Amino acid sequence: MMSNRFTFLYATLRRVPTASIPPFITTDSLHTRITELAHEIRRDAPGEKLHLICVLKGAVMFLSDLIRAMDGEVSIDFMALSSYGSGTTSSGEVRLIKDLDYGLEGRNVIIVEDIVDTGLTLHYLQEILRARGPKTLRTACLLSKPSRRKIDVKVDYIGFTIEDRFVVGYGLDYSEQYRNLPYIGVLQ
Ligand code: IMP
Ligand code: MG
Repeated sequence: MMSNRFTFLYATLRRVPTASIPPFITTDSLHTRITELAHEIRRDAPGEKLHLICVLKGAVMFLSDLIRAMDGEVSIDFMALSSYGSGTTSSGEVRLIKDLDYGLEGRNVIIVEDIVDTGLTLHYLQEILRARGPKTLRTACLLSKPSRRKIDVKVDYIGFTIEDRFVVGYGLDYSEQYRNLPYIGVLQ
């Protein structure tokens, strides 16, 4: 049998998902925390129709668990941005890849994002969405790495605050791999 280290290197080079990445945040912890977040978001807007905007692709699993734990009227839309090349460091450039299907005027909007790292992506997103006239605009991020922040950005709901580690799984990728892990693991 291959050693863990060898399996990890091999999988990294081949860029294939591997079971050798141990859970850093388990599936159970994710579900517990996301259920709490869903209740918190609903408590802050009782009786309101909420419009959740999922930032593709990393936030897909977060969104799907979040809305299933949320009561009341909820609608969803999707947007895709790119802030990274194929590596683990930010290019600092944000591009809009896919726009929303619906307008935001008068809606109670919640941005649903996987992780806030430098904050550049979220800052850009908040600016362009605010300009579309939502009634309220709030942000929910599953993960936050505050030590990496380059710009001050407001995040209303944070699932987990983590150290400066590159994480994958539960929607988060490294070069499009590992999104299918049902938990979050550390890549480096
Ligand atoms: P920011 O613009 O530096 O805040 O980066 C935000 C985006 O970078 C996130 O939406 C992720 O797609 C990606 N990202 C940042 N850190 C990580 C990580 O640790 N794992 C996977 N993707 C990350
Ligand atoms: Mg993202």
